[in-house]
Amino acid sequence: MMKKRTAPVIRAMKGGERIVCITAYDLASARLCEEAEADLVLVGDSLGNVVLGHDSTLPVTMDDMIHHVRAVRRAIKLPLLVADMPFGSYETSEADAVRNAVALMKVGAEAVKLEGMHLGAIEAILRAGIPVMGHLGFTPQHVHEFGGHKVQAKGDAADALATNANALADVGVFSIVLELVPRESARRVTEACPVPTVGIGAGPDCDGQIQVFHDIVGLTDKEYRHAKRYVDGYGLFREGISQYREDVKSGRFPEERNSF
Ligand code: KIV
Repeated sequence: MMKKRTAPVIRAMKGGERIVCITAYDLASARLCEEAEADLVLVGDSLGNVVLGHDSTLPVTMDDMIHHVRAVRRAIKLPLLVADMPFGSYETSEADAVRNAVALMKVGAEAVKLEGMHLGAIEAILRAGIPVMGHLGFTPQHVHEFGGHKVQAKGDAADALATNANALADVGVFSIVLELVPRESARRVTEACPVPTVGIGAGPDCDGQIQVFHDIVGLTDKEYRHAKRYVDGYGLFREGISQYREDVKSGRFPEERNSF
């Protein structure tokens, strides 16, 4: 059986066994991640898109995050449970950042992730004894600043990405997500950075990979270049529901064995 993943265990996986990370938002998705032996489960603010139907992560609130972290906490034991800090929960002041990180830990998170170079907020959260995961490259909470979902850190901009990754490592993050950056840039950052990089759309040279649950199990109608659909979950569920409908309409369900 896999041993318990903690932030120091994930940190120590730098350059070794690849780190498998998946998002989860509820009991069923989290249980499946635990059974599949994911190293790290992220309650991502991507729940705004894939669970709540928003067109970005910006509307996600602390209450939304707390609600979903509670559910995931009830499902998993061995993977490290990381909670995203939603837009607006850490930019306003260090005190707000610590208060909101503490609120996520109170309901069962074991670490928090926040986007960009908020070094003051990160240091304050770390001082409170809460492990922090960084997130660089395309950071979805800055989608309006970037002007859309665009690959970041191309060409010479890879230097700035490496500098930022090392600055995050220096303040003490245990790992860094690299999202939508060219393979070569991610490889350079991974080589230079003392903490594990976890890629999404960042090529195969990162220390680990993270994927959104709904993308890999085929529960979304969107196809992304950075994702791989391992099973057609949507098709399977749709077929099951259609069969149920047919059975109810025709009187084949419930059967005697479903009755009391
Ligand atoms: O919210 C999320 O799911 C994320 C991952 C894509 C890294 O931040």
